[in-house]
Amino acid sequence: MASRQILVGVTGGIAAYKSAELVRLLGKQGHRVIVVMTEGAKAFVTPLTFQALTGSPVRDSLLDPEAEAGMGHIELARWADLVLIAPASADFMARLNAGMADDLLSTLCLATTAPIALAPAMNQAMWSNARTQANLDRLSQDAQIHVWGPAAGDQACGDVGLGRMLEAAELAERVAGFWERPLAGMHWVITAGPTRESIDPVRYISNHSSGKMGYALARAAADAGARVTLVSGPVGLPVPAGVDRVSVESAEQMYEAVHAAVADGGDLFVAAAAVADYRVIDPAAQKIKKSRDRMTIELTRNPDILSSVAALPSPPFTVGFAAETHDVEHYARDKLTRKKLDMIVANDVSDQRIGFNSDVNAVTVIWDGGQQQFPMSAKTQLAEQLLESIMARYQAKP
Ligand code: CTP
Repeated sequence: MASRQILVGVTGGIAAYKSAELVRLLGKQGHRVIVVMTEGAKAFVTPLTFQALTGSPVRDSLLDPEAEAGMGHIELARWADLVLIAPASADFMARLNAGMADDLLSTLCLATTAPIALAPAMNQAMWSNARTQANLDRLSQDAQIHVWGPAAGDQACGDVGLGRMLEAAELAERVAGFWERPLAGMHWVITAGPTRESIDPVRYISNHSSGKMGYALARAAADAGARVTLVSGPVGLPVPAGVDRVSVESAEQMYEAVHAAVADGGDLFVAAAAVADYRVIDPAAQKIKKSRDRMTIELTRNPDILSSVAALPSPPFTVGFAAETHDVEHYARDKLTRKKLDMIVANDVSDQRIGFNSDVNAVTVIWDGGQQQFPMSAKTQLAEQLLESIMARYQAKP
């Protein structure tokens, strides 16, 4: 493994104790590590701990003449091949999003052109707070920024939920894989979001799909080096970095766009969209007036995009999604065989915490002869795990 120069930023949170193990592991991987601590971080771990583990003095002040006389903060920002902030507190994420430069670490983040990876760690209520999520959304749109975690589980404060920092070994593994592009040369075609089926020029039939899962998968595949075509229904999400988005409205438009992308060398098709099963037979050309007490709209079945791709003479590797409220595995297996898919990702939408508009999901991935369970985690996190699971089956396919 090539030796890299990694700047580890430690912010104030109890997970800072895990960062000692993280820098030790990064050193073992052969990387050069310099630790930058915020004031808050020093309340949890002493700089001496990190100095002993890295062999370099810890940097903690923007206005330290002695340190600046050595490697100044701009030089330090240029020195880094990767800036890894672990733990990244809610406060730090807010300050990074706002573009603050009021301490050394935030200043370095503004000055560096290196990728910045955030390993969030905070109480589950702070993580799910709308302000933190808004900061996260904006930060994730930035191609320079990567968000690793958080994980779900027991928290130091006694709560249970999403917000735990990934374990040091997992973070070290992310760093090891960061410069690899395992999907280079592949073309992934992904559908996401709902479709809209017109009733008249101002009304439509649709559903509550947010598109978050499909967009997270698209970002993960692009980060891993794939060429990604994201065929998306109307959603309020920004185009993930490095992804080619084709915007559509109706199921029929999605069908056309998907087949065009698959014909353009698609190796893998992931159908994460919630496609409307029916469309209006004869949408009105003009706005329908409320002149009648009752009205009937006649619907007809939409083409099944996923089945049609799987039925191609030489289909790409196909992955479907199945949202079920009961007998999840049974119905998912049925769809797997009926639609002739390579894999299906099933989730239980009767669980109020996960699914459609949520930022978290828990799924079971099923294929012919096996299955794998993924516990509740952030959709961004889950996307990376799904990607690995899909690639393992893709490579195992004769
Ligand atoms: N799908 C598709 N085109 C459609 C309908 C669904 O590509 N016209 C894809 C979805 O993107 C998803 C999977 O098929 O990957 C879902 O299968 P489907 O049988 O449509 O699920 P449900 O709508 O839940 O089916 P049912 O109502 O029969 O449970």
